[in-house]
Order: sequence, then structure tokens, then C-alpha cells
Amino acid sequence: MKIISNIKDMQTRCLAARAAGQTIAFVPTMGFLHEGHLSLLREGRERGDLLALSIFVNPTQFGHGEDLDRYPRNFERDESLARECGVDLIFYPNAEAIYPADYATYVTVEGPLTTTLEGTCRPTHFRGVTTVVAKLFVIVQPHVALFGRKDFQQLAVIRRMTLDLNLPVEIVGMPIVRETDGLAMSSRNVYLAENERKQALALIDTLGLSVQMVRDGERNVSKVLESARQRLHVEPDLTIDYVKICHAQTLAEVETVDQESVMLLAVSVGKTRLIDNGSILC
Ligand code: PAJ
Repeated sequence: MKIISNIKDMQTRCLAARAAGQTIAFVPTMGFLHEGHLSLLREGRERGDLLALSIFVNPTQFGHGEDLDRYPRNFERDESLARECGVDLIFYPNAEAIYPADYATYVTVEGPLTTTLEGTCRPTHFRGVTTVVAKLFVIVQPHVALFGRKDFQQLAVIRRMTLDLNLPVEIVGMPIVRETDGLAMSSRNVYLAENERKQALALIDTLGLSVQMVRDGERNVSKVLESARQRLHVEPDLTIDYVKICHAQTLAEVETVDQESVMLLAVSVGKTRLIDNGSILC
């Protein structure tokens, strides 16, 4: 396994692998790896001759007052987990290399895909994500890139960008990996105090309750959302950013639940922001 920080070195190495006929699988991350990330790496190992992982806490996707400075980092641990997953190359650039002082180019997916849901609370977030992912694609030149459905909207936005820019990259969406009690794994879970960690289970509980309601025959989205909000309001330190039921591809809000419907939730528990989602009619 090689660790490369220099952009040109990474690009040269990846272009050479491509020229030699190797298939490159790529998993972009912000590090502090957990089982969610590792599931992407294991799938990437199956799909690529060369498996590349990037670790970069991308400043442009954090808004003012968000957790950029305290975002958890542990490169040594990440390195040994990556090795266990058979990673060939870790790309580990610094922020000055990715965004030099005179940097001026951004990739933006416009319209409702980026202005709804996370886009409402975090208006510059997806611009940062698409910009860095586009740059990483140019540096790593992957044939296939793997993303988690945990960040459901992010996956939809990246699919859109890849299609719109005719990028020759296959985007693979992977299932959400959860703790045994159902909390979706996230690097941010380490922020949660013990009593907050318990309250965070309201997310999976709400998803479960909503699925059950639909299974019992309810198809009216307002009614499902009303009971979802009631469940979330039980937790004293939890505030709701949004709870919505949307079409899985367009992310447009729907009035009636069908096979394509996904419930998306964003809450804060104390100071920690958490997101989750799931199909509602399964
Ligand atoms: P990060 O939050 O580190 O996540 C990296 C990848 O891991 C994303 O595709 C994310 O959806 C996936 N992931 C995170 N938790 C998961 C879980 N519990 N189950 C399955 N997959 C999970 O997402 C980002 O970084 C950044 O926005 C990035 C795409 C790297 C751009 O900076």
C-alpha cells in the first residue's frame, strides 16, 4: 500500500495503471474510517484491479460555524484499516494543494436536487462536495467509484454530475451500515454523549415506525410524517431539521407513498447533526 499526498504523483500513478489495462476502483472519504467506509472498500476491492482510497476533510463542503475544525481525524488508524481492506493507494492531500490561494473553479449541480433537504440547511454544501469529487475523479481517473446510501442526497447529486459532465465513471451506491442497535454509522457519532447516543436511536425507531404504518396500509404522507415528528419530539435534546418523504430519484416531495418513496431525516441531538434515510414501502 502506498500513501501519496502529491496530486501530480497520484495522477501519474493512476494514469499509468489505466494505460496498463488495470481497472481502478475508488472510494472517496473524509477519513476516521468506520465499517460503513470499509464496506465500500471491500466492494471496491472486488471491482477493481487497483483500489484507491482518498482521505481529505474537504473545507468547501463545510458551512460557516460547522464542524470543520473539530472533524475527527486519525490517519494512523485509517492507514491500518485501509491495509486490512487491501487498499493499494491512499491519496492524502492537504487543503493547500487541493485549493491553492488562487483557486477559483467550482462545479455546481443546480436546481432542486441541491436546494432541497440538506441544501436548505446547508446551502453551499453540495457545491463543495461536487467540486472536490470532480477534482478527485480527474486526479484518480477511476472506472468505478463507490458511495454510501447513508448520504442519499449526495449520491443522487453525484450521479447527476457524472451524467451531466459525461464523466466515464460508474457510480455504485452501497447500503447503509448500522451499529447493532440500528444507529447509522457516521464519523460524527463520536461527538455524541451517552444520553445523546440513546436519543439518536429515535432516527431508526422513526424509520421503523413509519415503515410499519405503511405496511399497515397508510399511504398518506402527511399522516406518516405527523407520527414521525411526534416520535422524534419525545427526545428532549433532539431538534428536527427536516423529515420528508421523497421520490428516490428526483427527491421531489410526494403526497402518497409508493415503491419509490424514501423517508429522509436530519436532526440535531445536542450539537451533533445526524442524517438517516430508508425506503418506506418495502
Ligand atoms: P464521508 O462522510 O467520509 O463518507 C465517505 C463515504 O462513506 C460516502 O460515500 C458515505 O455515504 C459513505 N458512508 C458513510 N457512512 C456510511 C454508512 N453508515 N454506511 C454506508 N456508507 C457510509 O461523504 C463524504 O465523506 C464526503 O462528502 C466526500 C464524498 C468524501 C466528499 O468530500
